[in-house]
Amino acid sequence: MFNPDLRTQLLIEDQTFTFAPHPVVPSLVWGQEGRHAIVFRVESGGESYALKVFRPVFRHPGLIEAADAISIYADLPGMRVCRQTVLTEDSHPDVVAQHEDLNFSMLMPWIEGETWFDFLQQRKRTTLDQSRVLAESMSWVLYALELNNLAHCDLSSGNVILEPSLKYVHLIDVEDLYTPHVAPPPFVPTGSIGYAHYAAAKTGQWGPVGDRFAGALLLAEMLGWAKPEIRKMCWGESYFDPKELQDPNSERYIVLRDMLRVYDPGFAETFEQVWRSANLERCPPLKTWYDLLDMLPREPVAEWAPIDPALLAEETPPPAYMSAGLPQSKSTATGPTQDAKPQRAGCRGCMDGCLQGCRQLVTTSLLGIALTGLGAALTIDAVSGWPLLSQLSALLF
Ligand SMILES: Nc1ncnc2c1ncn2[C@@H]1O[C@H](COP(=O)(O)OP(=O)(O)O)[C@@H](O)[C@H]1O
Ligand SMILES: [Mg+2]
Repeated sequence: MFNPDLRTQLLIEDQTFTFAPHPVVPSLVWGQEGRHAIVFRVESGGESYALKVFRPVFRHPGLIEAADAISIYADLPGMRVCRQTVLTEDSHPDVVAQHEDLNFSMLMPWIEGETWFDFLQQRKRTTLDQSRVLAESMSWVLYALELNNLAHCDLSSGNVILEPSLKYVHLIDVEDLYTPHVAPPPFVPTGSIGYAHYAAAKTGQWGPVGDRFAGALLLAEMLGWAKPEIRKMCWGESYFDPKELQDPNSERYIVLRDMLRVYDPGFAETFEQVWRSANLERCPPLKTWYDLLDMLPREPVAEWAPIDPALLAEETPPPAYMSAGLPQSKSTATGPTQDAKPQRAGCRGCMDGCLQGCRQLVTTSLLGIALTGLGAALTIDAVSGWPLLSQLSALLF
């Protein structure tokens, strides 16, 4: 797999791109691992871009068609990453001849901020007003898609980036965006771990209603996140444990639904309808969420909501595995993750997907990597990309 270092330069359409350093280990390049690809931050002419390098099994010509079809949606709210350039041996022969793994890789705008996954995993606090504003932005992004007969179709915490101001959200990982004008992707999305409707496992969720369930869950998580109890109860990369999704007796469900009532009873009712729905069509449209948020008073939430702000002040400590100093699971310095097995990529929830949580997968893969690479990790020097692995090995053994 593609293994750049800080000296690697790519010449793409007369522009020279260099690789940005990892924010925690600046001697390494910054690669962020998803289920299909590793995404690098690259820079050229003072601008930052994301370079998405797919695992071999996910490289296919349909990516070119999809990128062409979705480019017109780049000006919709939160959809800037629809401006994509796909690099192939036909379109960019020189760069692909130099690095064959860049065939079907994609260059797109870099979105500054943190993913919602980071917030959930690190239990980062939001205030009531931040929660409301984030949900407003999310509902607008999703409603704008719905209005245009579009759907992201793979909404999850890792595919949402929050701007540092915590006022606007952006969607990423848009290759499977549903539009009536493109053919279905080869791996039809069935929903990500913790965000998948049970019916979508059979039918897939590539269609105009594909965001109704996952979108509602993300909106509910954002609205509820101001409450310390909810942050404490969070399962991992999603608030809900995938096993308890749509169980009416789930404690997490009851606590979150009751918190939604604080904003307006309509939120709790809508969420209940989503939770009990037999299929995606039965989930309320995203417009319902947008309208509910739009109707809220403009004053700070604490001035009109029936909740004691003192109850929300408590900080939530990050989970024990984070305070032990382990690196964030999705952010990686390149090297250790290069040889991830193709079946890992299937876990994303595609038709061929497995049902394990990603955190579990990351742990498993890190353990596997640590075992196989331990000897090498302890001897190879820092510049080559392995010191995180040796730190990790030291922690694990
Ligand atoms: N355009 C972008 N700007 C900033 N970070 C990005 C961008 N695209 C992806 N990332 C980061 O890389 C991670 C993996 O990217 P993603 O496109 O979701 O890959 P996958 O399809 O493998 O899930 C994301 O969770 C995010 O942290
Ligand atoms: Mg993703």
